Amino acid sequence: MSLQGRVALVTGAGRRVGRSIALALAAKGARMAVHYRSSAGEARRVAAAVKTLSGADAEVFRADLGDERAPDKLADAVARRFGGLDILVNCASLYERTPFDDVDPASWERQMAVNARAPFFLARACAPHLRRSGAGVVINVADWSGHRPYADYGPYCASKAALLCVNKILAKALAPEVRVNAILPGPVLPPQDMGETDKRKISEATLLKRLGTPEAVARACVFLAESADYTTGAELSVDGGRLIS
Ligand SMILES: NC(=O)c1ccc[n+]([C@@H]2O[C@H](COP(=O)([O-])OP(=O)(O)OC[C@H]3O[C@@H](n4cnc5c(N)ncnc54)[C@H](OP(=O)(O)O)[C@@H]3O)[C@@H](O)[C@H]2O)c1
Repeated sequence: MSLQGRVALVTGAGRRVGRSIALALAAKGARMAVHYRSSAGEARRVAAAVKTLSGADAEVFRADLGDERAPDKLADAVARRFGGLDILVNCASLYERTPFDDVDPASWERQMAVNARAPFFLARACAPHLRRSGAGVVINVADWSGHRPYADYGPYCASKAALLCVNKILAKALAPEVRVNAILPGPVLPPQDMGETDKRKISEATLLKRLGTPEAVARACVFLAESADYTTGAELSVDGGRLIS
């Protein structure tokens, strides 16, 4: 489907990978709902860039997706502002280092809430609009580590595994009107404080022996929204082969 004039909500779109996804969808003519939690200035700059890039309409929306009431409010606010919603990209995420002995119920709950619970409830809150769209799409940005967890990030990996299951649940629940797919990035944009040695290690652990880019994830998003019209409940790795290495 053409993305021209479609309304897309990208969560966590103020910075990093979410920003690239928002700009890539906007470059195809989508009208953008730019969600953020704390990156207000960055989100406003993304919305301004959308307008410059394509002339498409864009608006910023603040929500803490750890708050259980946030998904309904966010979906309503976006649909009211744009008169509907065609594409939801669940990209916002919490990534906390929690070695086995340091995992506590609070860190577990926090990451499950943002990374798995919120995508489910946000998709459900958006469902009436997505169904009405006639070409509704949900994209869940997961992680290869949802299949192969790594040490020290247990709750994060468990939350991404849960998101992969949510992806299938949503695909079943929203069919046949809405397609639902997941992207599993590998190391596309390391945390800002990661040193060069660790960056080399994580690129060496991929089959392609290099880091990816946020733009590679954004292109996969555009593909799933625009072209993958017989694909639902699927998982698309953008990980340089990390999952099978
Ligand atoms: N970067 C990678 O190499 C990589 C690898 C594998 C998978 N991924 C996945 O790709 C996606 C994007 O990655 P990233 O590195 O760009 O993510 P990130 O920087 O860790 O986080 C993205 C955004 O999530 C938002 N967020 C965090 N807690 C939130 C909350 N309680 N409520 C609402 N929003 C919240 C933050 O928005 P604010 O800044 O506005 O607070 C943040 O900018 C994530 O789902 C991640 O798991 C990334």
